Amino acid sequence: RITPVILSGGSGTRLWPLSRSGRPKQLLALTHDDTMLQLTARRASGDRFTAPMVVANAAHAAEIETQMAGAGVADSTLILEPAARNTAPAIALAAVLAAPDDILLVMPSDHVITDVEAFHGAIERAVPLVEDGWLVTFGIQPTAPEVGYGYICRGKEIAIGVQRVERFVEKPDRATAEAYVAEGRYSWNGGIFLFTAGAYLAALDASAPGMAAAARDAIADSRRDGLRVHPDGIAFGRSPSDSIDYAVMEKAERVAVVPVDMGWSDVGSWDALHDLALKDETGNAHHGEVIAIDTENCLIRSEGPLVAAVGVKDVIVIATHDAVLVVPRGDSQQVKRAIDALKKAN
Ligand code: GDD
Ligand code: MG
Repeated sequence: RITPVILSGGSGTRLWPLSRSGRPKQLLALTHDDTMLQLTARRASGDRFTAPMVVANAAHAAEIETQMAGAGVADSTLILEPAARNTAPAIALAAVLAAPDDILLVMPSDHVITDVEAFHGAIERAVPLVEDGWLVTFGIQPTAPEVGYGYICRGKEIAIGVQRVERFVEKPDRATAEAYVAEGRYSWNGGIFLFTAGAYLAALDASAPGMAAAARDAIADSRRDGLRVHPDGIAFGRSPSDSIDYAVMEKAERVAVVPVDMGWSDVGSWDALHDLALKDETGNAHHGEVIAIDTENCLIRSEGPLVAAVGVKDVIVIATHDAVLVVPRGDSQQVKRAIDALKKAN
């Protein structure tokens, strides 16, 4: 069986003001009544999977346990990071805790996948290679030269529906991304990985030995509290900080990609959420107490106050108890400028 490893460490600032450090994107219900974490956990449950491991910030432990129980996913192991060291060390903690032959399905906790059957099919195509020691990633057809993604150059087919990765380039600059999209042999990295715990740690030993050692020491000296695992803070604190993409995938030898069309979105902005939302006949998506008159193609969401929109088009309005965001559609990535301004003011 496959062990899901759910990464729940990010803060998701692009969905401010709803997403905050105390309640980041993955713990919010954005697309459904369920939260992104709950949707992720359910997507990898059933006969084919063991109970998951969730790697998370200790501050979110109780909320995560409540949400996992609410999703009907029992017996999750919670690995609570004493400090944030990005994804490569976070995954290393799970890999050290697992047995070397265990197959890990590493998943971000904040993505949408609408075609779960296609996702499961892609996983099954990857399993024989994973058992043979390959690191496998899932490739998404690019639709724009986004610079926030990893790009995978697909090479020779090495099994049905699986291709060798010629090159993995994390977050290229704009010109490079444009060239990749035009070239046609590149996929976006979906941020989901399949490998055995042993293969991942061997790759990490080769490319970032300090991270592997820190994870081994942190688990060796960890404290258990039921299903909560507290890795040792001093050992983990010694780990360098880097993502799996830079620290492992760009450097590892035997990397394969399974291209898959599964309705994937990383819900990276309010615009993405408007695209995903169910809209009425005028193109509006509402949530909470909202009145819209002569309003078209807007995303309007309130967590409290009544929001009335009259005669507006192509606007995003997000109201919470203590902050309101108003931004034109198409520009919602610019929310980071508001956060930067806030940081400067404080
Ligand atoms: N536990 C833990 N600890 N989780 C973390 C940490 C950490 O320190 N840092 C990030 N995460 C979680 C995030 O919550 C998210 O679910 C996932 O790991 C990926 O991190 P992101 O910070 O969202 O990565 P990214 O979006 O910049 O890039 C990755 O995803 C893209 C697709 O969405 C890369 O894998 C790219 O190559 C990929 O294209
Ligand atoms: Mg992301």
